[in-house]
Amino acid sequence: MAGKIKVAVVGLGFGAEFIPLYQKHPDAECYAICQRDEKHLNEIGDQFGVERRYTNFKDLLTIDELDAIHIVTPINDHAPMTIAALNAGKHAASTVPMAITKEECLKIVQARRKANKVYMMMETAVYTREFLYVKEQVEKGELGKIQFLRGSHQQNMSLPGWPDYWYGFPPMYYATHAVSPLLALANADAESVVCFGSGTIRKEYVEKYNSPFAIETALVRLRNSDLACEVTRSLFDTIRQYRESFDVYGTKSSFEWEQIAGEGMVLHSGFEDARRIEVPDYGRLLPKEIAQYTVRGVYDDEHEHTSFIQGAGHGGSHPHLTHEFVRAIVEKRESSIDAERAANWTMVGICAHESAMKGGVQVDIPKPRQEVKY
Ligand SMILES: NC(=O)c1ccc[n+]([C@@H]2O[C@H](COP(=O)([O-])OP(=O)(O)OC[C@H]3O[C@@H](n4cnc5c(N)ncnc54)[C@H](O)[C@@H]3O)[C@@H](O)[C@H]2O)c1
Repeated sequence: MAGKIKVAVVGLGFGAEFIPLYQKHPDAECYAICQRDEKHLNEIGDQFGVERRYTNFKDLLTIDELDAIHIVTPINDHAPMTIAALNAGKHAASTVPMAITKEECLKIVQARRKANKVYMMMETAVYTREFLYVKEQVEKGELGKIQFLRGSHQQNMSLPGWPDYWYGFPPMYYATHAVSPLLALANADAESVVCFGSGTIRKEYVEKYNSPFAIETALVRLRNSDLACEVTRSLFDTIRQYRESFDVYGTKSSFEWEQIAGEGMVLHSGFEDARRIEVPDYGRLLPKEIAQYTVRGVYDDEHEHTSFIQGAGHGGSHPHLTHEFVRAIVEKRESSIDAERAANWTMVGICAHESAMKGGVQVDIPKPRQEVKY
């Protein structure tokens, strides 16, 4: 359709969630899909009625009329695919994390500047209804001055069934869900980090990435700010219900989230006053065609599982991310999670792991604006 942004989605596990969103967005279309396994590719293509199907990512780069590529492949591929997409003159969205080395992060910043295209890291944690609610309260001045922030992302991936590359993965290499709400609410970049590793994971996992720790906990100093924040990650051999949360403490009120999944946020509004609050959905910020995808999932007691309409999930964040990426392209502006910001958020984790491996020394986070030459 003339005038619509033509998007290809690469990687159709989590990536399939975004197909209906591009299809329904008034300014976009899901022009093509790509993944290596042809059988699954065809199943997804048939399910969503997408005709253009590719098993080789490189073929997408040669499609002149294609505007944008949304990358949702395994972690090691994010950086090389993003750079290839930008170098081919395509706008690029990438699932988290941006990359797994500092050098890759800086190369993406450089490639984006050279291409002058939109880059967006599709960080779900800064478009959940909880994040959008607290951001609104911060902007209205309800918290007063922010004094401290804490983020955590705890997951137990010791169970079988995950793709191989996960086992033994350094927890801080996938820290953006815990880092990003803090830096976004503080509206500041990270400057430096110290991190300690704690505990030990099983030997066969340690060998894969030479990363021994069960938990990594970092203190992050923010640039041009009096704030520090704390980030905790665990991935293996530590029992905890899945948790992706942030706490923010202010002079007038504070928010904490979450002890048990589904229990909601707690608002502290006085020394003795604390209560649970129900945050609203934020479909009203979106075009009506995709607003329905911000709704909550339905919990099935019998199977102990929450089911979502396809395209929803992760706190209602997917349609907001899709909308922001598409609108940044239409409006010819940088996205809300542009390459510099994504690099800073991602390098907090990379530098934190480096610090932990060196016994907790301070590691400065590179500043893309100064270090990238082009
Ligand atoms: N909340 C979030 O932001 C969130 C949630 C889930 C997953 N993710 C990220 O999404 C990514 C994918 O996760 P997943 O669970 O779907 O993983 P997965 O390994 O199940 O799926 C990866 C997909 O990529 C395809 N693929 C792999 N290599 C490819 C290549 N060279 N060319 C084309 N396609 C290729 C595979 O065929 C598969 O469809 C991961 O990097 C993960 O970090 C983010």
